[in-house]
Amino acid sequence: MNLLLPRGHDLHVHFRSYDSKLFPNVIGYTARRFSSALVMPNTSPNPILTGADADAYRHAILKVADDQGITGFTPLMTIQITESTTPKTIADAHTSGVVAGKVYPLGVTTNSGNGLTIPSLMRKHDVWQAMADVGMVLCLHGERPFSANEFCLQAEVSFLPTLQWLSKTFCLLKIVMEHVTTAEAVEEVLRLPNVYATITAHHLRLTLNDVIGGNLDPHAFCKPVAKTPEDRNALLLAATCGSDKIFFGSDSAPHTIESKHLSGCAGIFSAPHALECLAEVFEDEGKLDNLPKFLTAGAPVYNLPASTETITLERKEQEVPKVLHQVRPYRAGETLRWKVV
Ligand code: DOR
Ligand code: ZN
Repeated sequence: MNLLLPRGHDLHVHFRSYDSKLFPNVIGYTARRFSSALVMPNTSPNPILTGADADAYRHAILKVADDQGITGFTPLMTIQITESTTPKTIADAHTSGVVAGKVYPLGVTTNSGNGLTIPSLMRKHDVWQAMADVGMVLCLHGERPFSANEFCLQAEVSFLPTLQWLSKTFCLLKIVMEHVTTAEAVEEVLRLPNVYATITAHHLRLTLNDVIGGNLDPHAFCKPVAKTPEDRNALLLAATCGSDKIFFGSDSAPHTIESKHLSGCAGIFSAPHALECLAEVFEDEGKLDNLPKFLTAGAPVYNLPASTETITLERKEQEVPKVLHQVRPYRAGETLRWKVV
């Protein structure tokens, strides 16, 4: 039995800095299976902050794809919005073909030490307006930086008033709430007219039990961290129902086993088997027919052409390797029911 899927879009992925060892090794997993991917700008030590940075990064990605004989893949470039971003930064980036600006609130995840505080985000009216004017998408890591009185599991829900403010104040700005993890965030996304969301493959399966319920599992740790079974069920419903507003973004974020163990970095490397994992989840929900929609619903948001190519999955068991490129991939050592042909 075969499953024919569109060669769709992974609208949130980390390829890492182009001088890192991971960079040439991880791109192919995404580039072979998707026609485009939105590439995150939180590279270290040098984040992607301008159109010129994005141009150089795009060329390096395309060179890797080309060297590996991969065709038909378009990296969609982002810049990170920091305190120093101006309307001119936006206009120049737009001219360079950058399609989205990404906000990391200060200190909430990997390489976000240059992120925005909520008050500084709310002062950047001219930047949000400049993005709306050129049709650049605002991608949000939707977690509020912790304060002394803030509980970390509430960080996403605590960010929702900021999302509401952005949506209402800049009603022509397209906003994507990235990797949502809570029932409350899903509800807000569906309610606010100019707001969309990505959901990862891992958040459709994991709960906090997988991270801290038994022995601590650093390889199941990502930001935002997986939440309750009820939250996970709300995500399952949202992803599999065929919504126009909710689409796939893997947030595939490789960290070496060594750095996971030494520093506890957040991030799950899901790119190698993301499609197979999604097929399992959608099949278990009895919603396999809606998987093509989940893989392509983001196209109108990013003005992407309709997918014409297809990817075939066969019903064949495969074991996920325990280690790939010194990284433990998502579902390492487990047997999956589907395999990309
Ligand atoms: O788990 C995560 N890892 N979440 C993010 O927002 C960033 C990412 C990374 O860059 O490793
Ligand atoms: Zn991410």
